[in-house]
Amino acid sequence: MHPMNVIVTDSPEQAFLCAADMITDEIRRSSTPVLGLATGRTMENIYRLLVQQHEAGALDFSGTTSFNLDEYVGLAPTDPNSYHHYMQDHLFAHVNMPANRAHVPNGIAPDLEVECARYEAAIHAAGGIDLQLLGIGETGHIGFNEPPSAFDSRTRVVHLDEVTRRQNSGMFGNDPERVPPRALTMGVGTILDARRLVLVAVGEGKAAIVNEALNGPISETVSASAIRLHDNTTIILDTAAASDWKRRTR
Ligand code: GLP
Repeated sequence: MHPMNVIVTDSPEQAFLCAADMITDEIRRSSTPVLGLATGRTMENIYRLLVQQHEAGALDFSGTTSFNLDEYVGLAPTDPNSYHHYMQDHLFAHVNMPANRAHVPNGIAPDLEVECARYEAAIHAAGGIDLQLLGIGETGHIGFNEPPSAFDSRTRVVHLDEVTRRQNSGMFGNDPERVPPRALTMGVGTILDARRLVLVAVGEGKAAIVNEALNGPISETVSASAIRLHDNTTIILDTAAASDWKRRTR
């Protein structure tokens, strides 16, 4: 197993700054960086910081390519609850990344299997992902890799766990039944192929699953535990998200 680089910050804002700095460094280091992007409330804060940097003239996205982890099946890019829309809203509309290089799986593709294969091929054609940003769901998912997800799984259609539909219902009038039951997601194997992983979690609500993912068995029932198999992983936590993890290892 590889040593994990775990950074614990005093506040959520510092965790977001730390993650934004890593992405900024990646964009400045390479003329053609390929970023793997994530969605969720945590990530909104990181995108806000990147947009600020861009608006200050300090960050140029013109050479950047991106691939998002996932999308709900059945939601059009124009649907306010789609991850396409989320990305436009929080990042793409505010920075100078060429639109044809900002990729999100198409949840309304006529043939979803073909779409998944196309997405994998597009990642490959771009030379693979340099830095993959990850959040963690209450089920331990990365992307939408609900338990159990094979560690060699690729981009595919998944059924969302009831826990996840509840967790993500805020965008759907707090009604879990309105959260689409299926999604397209990069697989755990797709994620592990990225050259570097950066997982960010803040808040007490993530403490138990963070501890499970970092200290529990490496198991397909907690897909985030797979990141411990990667040789270049950084985990950024605030003290609240790290609270259970610290107790166990002290
Ligand atoms: C969704 C995304 C995940 C993300 C999770 C965490 O389920 N598909 O990729 O990790 O949300 O969301 P939040 O940051 O809102 O806790």
